Amino acid sequence: MKWQAEAPTNIALIKYMGKKDATSNIPLNASLSYTLDNLRSFVELEQTINSADSWEPLQDPRATFIPELNTIEQQRFLRHLALLKKQFNYTGNFIVRSANNFPAGCGLASSAASFAALTLCAVQALTALSHAEPMDRTAMAELSRQGSGSSCRSFFSPWVLWRDAKVAKVNLPYQDLLHHVAVVSHQKKLVNSSEAHRRVQTSALFNGRVERAEQRLIELSHSLAHQEWRAAYLTVWQEFWDMHALFQTAKQPFGYLQPASLTVLDYLSEYWENNGDGPLITLDAGPNVHMLFRADQAAMANEIKNTLAKNFEVI
Ligand code: DP6
Repeated sequence: MKWQAEAPTNIALIKYMGKKDATSNIPLNASLSYTLDNLRSFVELEQTINSADSWEPLQDPRATFIPELNTIEQQRFLRHLALLKKQFNYTGNFIVRSANNFPAGCGLASSAASFAALTLCAVQALTALSHAEPMDRTAMAELSRQGSGSSCRSFFSPWVLWRDAKVAKVNLPYQDLLHHVAVVSHQKKLVNSSEAHRRVQTSALFNGRVERAEQRLIELSHSLAHQEWRAAYLTVWQEFWDMHALFQTAKQPFGYLQPASLTVLDYLSEYWENNGDGPLITLDAGPNVHMLFRADQAAMANEIKNTLAKNFEVI
């Protein structure tokens, strides 16, 4: 038997960075994200008589990027499947296949989409195999969080608030934002986000981080609710710089920005200065620059995309 599922990724505007509990991925501060419905992971599970679960790339015409999961990443993915099987007291094994329609491992939050898709697929398979009651999305999101924190936000759309063990959709304007990302590098990150969550807490700047994030969450929720776009842009801008400053000031410093990231950021902040308007701009744990445009900024989004596309790949 085979089962299939897919899930979108999401981009955090208030970041999940630092954990209260690393085993179950309980965050230190609340995060607010926007679900990117076009950037998706696809997962297939096939029952096998093999003596262990295994992973392989999924061949699927929709999945234009085949992830090259290294051994550690495969183990992490399969560990999450093991956790899900345990929930259902299921002892059989599966071949897991996965792929994305966007490049993995370069700060495009591919783990959010892939862990959400794996959770959806496994719950579907395990519910059928063990004749269990159907599980609701909130319960699935909670299980998914234990595999990778940010994946719990991919169960809802478009605006999602995650605090402690609770994740839910929030009602805010701007339900149909346009997303582009300037992909300045496809290179895999050297420090994965789980390690980043640990290291940021060694920075002297981590003092007050939770309060800053919570304050920005209040500000951003207010700006979005009142459609104060420029104020939202400024809060989101400060938030990603705060996170990247924590990376660079950890006891064992690390970073993701590349010269090209700064070129894109300079261009975009100048665009804002010259036009009094522009996109929300953020970076995850990677060098690529995410832009969110209002629906009425479609022409601007096109102009900016075409300008950036002269030098970078823009998705
Ligand atoms: C920088 O969800 O990848 O993207 O829970 O250890 O799997 P784990 O971490 P992960 O962290 C994502 C961090 C971030 C910010 C965010 O998405 O909020």
